[in-house]
Amino acid sequence: MVRVGASVRRLLPGLAGEAAPSGRCALISDRTVAGIWGAAVEGLLAGAGLDVVPAFFPPGEASKTREMWARLTDRLMDARLGRDCCVVALGGGVTGDLAGFVAATFLRGVPFVQMPTTTLAMIDAAVGGKTGVDHPAGKNLVGAFHAPRAVLADPEFLATLDRRTRAQGYAEAMKHGIIVDAPHAEWLAGRAGALLGGEAGVVEEAVVRSVQIKAQVVSEDEFEAGRRRILNFGHTVAHALELDSGYSLPHGEAVAAGMAIEARIGELLGVTRKGTAAAVAGLVRALELPGGAPLAGRGRELARLMARDKKTRSGVVHMVRLEELGKTGSGADATVAIPEDRLARLLEESARGA
Ligand SMILES: NC(=O)c1ccc[n+]([C@@H]2O[C@H](COP(=O)([O-])OP(=O)(O)OC[C@H]3O[C@@H](n4cnc5c(N)ncnc54)[C@H](O)[C@@H]3O)[C@@H](O)[C@H]2O)c1
Ligand SMILES: [Zn+2]
Repeated sequence: MVRVGASVRRLLPGLAGEAAPSGRCALISDRTVAGIWGAAVEGLLAGAGLDVVPAFFPPGEASKTREMWARLTDRLMDARLGRDCCVVALGGGVTGDLAGFVAATFLRGVPFVQMPTTTLAMIDAAVGGKTGVDHPAGKNLVGAFHAPRAVLADPEFLATLDRRTRAQGYAEAMKHGIIVDAPHAEWLAGRAGALLGGEAGVVEEAVVRSVQIKAQVVSEDEFEAGRRRILNFGHTVAHALELDSGYSLPHGEAVAAGMAIEARIGELLGVTRKGTAAAVAGLVRALELPGGAPLAGRGRELARLMARDKKTRSGVVHMVRLEELGKTGSGADATVAIPEDRLARLLEESARGA
């Protein structure tokens, strides 16, 4: 169940109480979010008679590790929580992935409720049931599918987010539009000012539509065997850019640049309608996101990073096949296979054409 709207956080005590017959729950959050919103959420739970075990960790991707998973799990063990407890994940995508993985594995799995507090988490990370942590060999390499009992996306949480962090989630919203709903993409670009400024009603509308699209695509393919792969649009290139930057490049910015670059590669391969890449770049730039990245002289290195991606087998990179704005290939044609060497040349060529 995904609920979006002002004050939906008030539904938390009822849902947590249902999920945890013992009346006990772990509140997992990073320290920044806990410092701003922790007391209010704890108050909601405690006010309904629930016993709250707080488990807070330092903010940032650097915390999404096996070590932090172990520490949080220890905290739940020490508090003697049982299988009749639940986990509440309050925070951005890092918190959702980490807390979700703790919930997926603690005593072989306990229910959890997602309270996303970033645009990225509301629009993307909290929906779809993927949880996990990073591994030295790459992002999100250890994890589990564990669907939350409920996702409560309350746009009021976004008021305390800075403009650049807010923009990150809109990259994913834009992706949802670009792959299946061109009018949504145009709508987002047209409302950029209100979205970046955090105007509640417009933000809510953007989240609702984006979540609908993601939930629809995921429901057709829960375990990522087919159609769900189109959600990876822009991500093949994005993951390489992120890895290359030592993860200093925010995810949404990497995705925005990745979408424009993948569209350009699609044009060079003749699978994407001409002019689409320029349109994609214009759409993301409206949201103050980058419509490209410096590629000249870097094709070989970036192609090598992409060929190491977890979804890749045997040095061939599978890139989502965008045909035009709002339309991807389907079935076996959802992706296009590009050998690493060819991809290196295409990246260089796209740098020249851009
Ligand atoms: N599971 C999935 O399907 C999925 C999908 C997309 C992304 N992700 C993951 O999500 C993560 C990125 O998520 P993110 O961008 O939300 O990062 P994040 O969780 O690190 O949050 C970004 C920053 O914003 C702060 N913050 C969060 N909410 C706030 C608020 N309301 N007010 C003020 N500050 C706040 C956090 O403390 C943090 O410093 C990545 O690890 C990515 O792999 C997962
Ligand atoms: Zn993403």
